[in-house]
Amino acid sequence: MSEPRPVAVIVLAAGEGTRMKSRIPKVLHSLCGRSMLGHALAAAGELDPQRVVVVAGHRRDEVSAEAARHVPDVCVVVQERLGGTGHAVRIVTEALGVMPGIVVVTYGDMPLLRARTLAALVREHAAAANAVTVLTARIPDPSGYGRIIRDADGSLAEIVEEADATAAQRAIDEINSGCYAFDGALLADAVKRVATSNAQGQEYLTDVVAILRGDGHHAGTILAADPAEVEGVNDLVQLAKVRRAFNERLLETWMRAGVTIVDPAATWIDVDVTLAPDAEILPGTHLEGHTVVGSGARIGPDCLLRDTLVAPDAKVLYAVCESAEIGPGADVGPFARLRPGTRIGPGAHIGTNVELKNATVGEGSKVPHLTYVGDADIGAHSNIGAATVFVNYDGIAKHRSTVGDYVRIGADNMLVAPVEIGDGAYTAAGSVITEDVPPGALGVARSKQHNSEGWVERRRPGTPAAEAAARARHATGSGSAESSGTKESPGTKESSGTKESPGTVEGWARSEDEETQAR
Ligand code: UD1
Ligand code: CA
Repeated sequence: MSEPRPVAVIVLAAGEGTRMKSRIPKVLHSLCGRSMLGHALAAAGELDPQRVVVVAGHRRDEVSAEAARHVPDVCVVVQERLGGTGHAVRIVTEALGVMPGIVVVTYGDMPLLRARTLAALVREHAAAANAVTVLTARIPDPSGYGRIIRDADGSLAEIVEEADATAAQRAIDEINSGCYAFDGALLADAVKRVATSNAQGQEYLTDVVAILRGDGHHAGTILAADPAEVEGVNDLVQLAKVRRAFNERLLETWMRAGVTIVDPAATWIDVDVTLAPDAEILPGTHLEGHTVVGSGARIGPDCLLRDTLVAPDAKVLYAVCESAEIGPGADVGPFARLRPGTRIGPGAHIGTNVELKNATVGEGSKVPHLTYVGDADIGAHSNIGAATVFVNYDGIAKHRSTVGDYVRIGADNMLVAPVEIGDGAYTAAGSVITEDVPPGALGVARSKQHNSEGWVERRRPGTPAAEAAARARHATGSGSAESSGTKESPGTKESSGTKESPGTVEGWARSEDEETQAR
């Protein structure tokens, strides 16, 4: 038999939430990557109702926008003053007319409520042909909730709010969750007859139960299997508790699906994350947004991944990754940052203190240490030397650079974009590359080393360095500190010479003076 399909789900979300003490509207506070309102709408959506209605009041613009983000054709009904839950439903039935069929009412601040519990409520309602069916729960401390009052035969008679309850009624531990399934036509009529003669002077939706019973209709209940589901959030303490419970629930589902989670208390994942069997999540890991982790991949300890795709068998350690893709068998970290648009190829290695943005790294390539790769494409099997910077920004615009396959960028290079390094090319350590390097060439872009002999003893006499230099000179029997100091040492072994500046004696003499002045 097909599931009964509600004509509408009404989500009440007009309350102020003053106890949150927050500038964010209560139902927009989030847990596990989704606002409380989003969770309520997701559960509602699984009933496949013909329409979803949100009652908004306090901060209605933000609440409406969030509702529309989740349910594009949502119907928002504005409640100008908070006249109570009965008032909220009355203005909906007045605005939308009689809705013949099953109408479900639920709250925007009850994020642990499962879709399957709502579905069970609707099923029971239809099967028992009730005018109203109330989702109830038994909780150790029922204070604050409406109590379920039953007739001698055990059938539901009415709901009494705590403020209006007798001492005997307050002792009842079965409470009203605030979720109901109604006959839409009977609801529209009954809410018009709800009075405000109660302790709070409000229109109570709960009074509809007694009204329908008085009309001779049948009211039923269904008990929530897990009372935690009906816990509402009124302050940030409750939000933290509910968030942890929701997270535990998600982690349990993934563990039962074959995912290893070493420390569930220290692992946080969002509701839209997907984990494959044999993925392993180590402590201190936060997986956010639409992150996907493949089979055999290991994440953590201490990673934050947002909207990131991790392919099978990749390893990510102490890393922050956002909108990135990590290829199969690649490894990232420790202490790596992958910013949006980063794509790491199969088996590639991203090492320590490396930042990438809008960059691709080809299969088997390595970016091992202290490097920034911004707006660049690195081919396959290339190696980027330590402390290299892809200089992508000229102060006005960003430019893109390309590194081919089997390239070796020397340590401490500046690749000033846009620049293209051809396949199989090398660049010398310490180069500032401003021009393309053709395939197979060695690019050298730095000045040649010059040693000014005896400089320390002449210019820094009496310092420990000068004394050490003098001792070394005596030990090796090399020339006096008074020598002219023009002898040059060769500096680099791979001196192809094409781009090297000579480092002349005149040039050095000038920088020697600058050095002195700078101190
Ligand atoms: C309500 C129920 C109570 C139940 C409890 C469960 C009534 C009279 N009482 O009490 O039996 O045990 O929920 O949590 O219904 N809202 C509006 N407009 C309003 C008033 C409320 O949209 O004018 C929304 C609130 O934003 C909230 C929900 O309805 O999401 C419940 O309102 P709240 O005032 O918290 O009701 P309770 O007093 O907790
Ligand atoms: Ca409440």
